Formats: sequence, C-alpha cells, structure tokens
Amino acid sequence: MSSTEQRVAIVTGAARGIGAATAVRLAAEGHAVAVLDLDEVACAATVATITGQGGTALAVGCDVSDSGQVETAVARVTEQLGAPVVLVNNAGVLRDNLLFKMSDDDWDTVMNVHLRGAFLMSRACQKHMVDAGFGRIVNLSSSSALGNRGQVNYAAAKAGMQGFTKTLAKELGKFGITANAVAPGFIATDMTAATAERVGMGFEDFKAAAATQIPVARTGEPDDIANAVAFFADEKTGFVSGQVLYVAGGPLN
Ligand SMILES: NC(=O)c1ccc[n+]([C@@H]2O[C@H](COP(=O)([O-])OP(=O)(O)OC[C@H]3O[C@@H](n4cnc5c(N)ncnc54)[C@H](O)[C@@H]3O)[C@@H](O)[C@H]2O)c1
Repeated sequence: MSSTEQRVAIVTGAARGIGAATAVRLAAEGHAVAVLDLDEVACAATVATITGQGGTALAVGCDVSDSGQVETAVARVTEQLGAPVVLVNNAGVLRDNLLFKMSDDDWDTVMNVHLRGAFLMSRACQKHMVDAGFGRIVNLSSSSALGNRGQVNYAAAKAGMQGFTKTLAKELGKFGITANAVAPGFIATDMTAATAERVGMGFEDFKAAAATQIPVARTGEPDDIANAVAFFADEKTGFVSGQVLYVAGGPLN
C-alpha cells in the first residue's frame, strides 16, 4: 500500500457511543471509515461529523450477528471505500438479569451480537487484510469480563472476546495483522444510561456513585476508549498483539 492511499476501517456499532467516537477518531487519523450499525439511517450523524471535519465515511446498515448481512456489508465497503484493513468489533447489547431470571433469549442475543458478530466480521475482513499484508483488529471487551453480578451472559461474552482476540493474534500475526482488545470500565453512553434507568437512578447520580469507586475519580467518556483503540489501530503499533488493555481509570481487582 502506498503512503498516499487512505486505509479503510470498519467500526461496528458506530451510530453512537464508543463506536461513534472511535469512527470519528480513526477518520481524523486519516482512515476512510465505514460507520456500520443496525440501522443505516442512524449512522448519518456519525458520517456527518466525519465529513464535516473533511474526512471520508460511509453509512452501512448491518446486523453483525447475521452472516449474509455481514458478507454483503463488507463487500459493499470494499466496493465503495476500498478493502478494509482495520476492523473494530464494537457493536454490543446488554440483556442484564440474575441467572435464575435470565431467559434463553437474553443469553443468545448477547452471545450472538458480541461473539458471533465479532467472528463473522473478522472472518469477512481477514482476507482483505491478508491480501494487503497488513491488518488491525480491535475488539471491545469489558471490565465485566472479570465477573459482574447480573451479567452472566455479558461477562461470558466479554471474557470470550479476550480468548478470541488472543487466538486471532496467533493465527494472523504472520500476515502483518495484529489483534488486541480494549476492555472499558464505566463509560458514559446510552448503554450505561439505560442501566441507570433500569436500576431506577438518575444518570448523573449513577455516574457520581460509579466515580467514587474509580481511582481517577471520574467515569469514562467515549473518547477515552477511542484513544486506546486508535493506539492499537496505528500502523506503528505492529509489535503489540494479543493484548487486553483495561481502560477503566485505574487498576481492577
Ligand atoms: N459503556 C460502557 O460502560 C462499556 C463498558 C465496557 C464495554 N463496553 C462495550 O463497548 C461497546 C460499545 O458500547 P456503548 O456503551 O457505546 O454502547 P451503545 O449501546 O451506546 O452503542 C452500541 C451500538 O451497537 C449497535 N448494535 C447493537 N447490536 C448490533 C448488531 N447486532 N449489529 C450492529 N450494530 C449493533 C447499537 O445499535 C448501538 O449503536 C460494546 O461492545 C459494549 O459492550 C461499554
């Protein structure tokens, strides 16, 4: 790839939250970015932010847990932006419940979006990375991978993302492809706002309570995670692979 050619990145779940901030950051660093989310229309705001800053972006509607939709979406990105060599598996959902109340559907939905989604997207993109002799895969894990009450499904999926990441690193390293995971702590997004609502707390009170448990004494912002993803996506970060970086305002026990 010549140095003048723009690298193509796909960020899943990029209509809002951490994915949107990551898409904007990768675009600012010179990538052409496919802003992928369930609803193509919902991607418009992220695309507008990127193009408003002089960047290149494409809105792509796709359910990452659906194999056919993933193949179609990656083919469309390749045709309209170019072959994707950076992939950020960020799309996610919560279906929190204590084990005895958790439905089969709560379990399957979380596994399908996080794990099956990351698998399908990575499989669809890897051939382009192998062809380019270069690739960066960044997967979103979570501090919940260490165990979190009410999240047996999500904790299992986010711990699974770590094993998935390390295995990609081992399989794909010789093709110039790295795979790493970012494991956020509490980040203020619609996801955590929904959790506050579910437990009957105002979001500001919920954030303030969480901040008392965080060494840097604040909750995280989407840009805090975008910054870590950008490090792993950087061309210069070619000797760091199979790592999990907790971005949580302090160490976790
Ligand atoms: N917010 C946090 O505190 C936090 C902490 C740790 C990890 N994470 C992880 O970071 C990622 C982003 O979280 P967020 O807080 O920005 O969440 P969010 O709910 O604000 O955004 C998630 C996005 O993923 C999209 N999405 C969901 N299912 C999809 C599917 N099947 N196909 C395509 N897109 C889909 C949603 O439409 C949404 O736009 C998730 O993987 C989440 O688990 C978040």
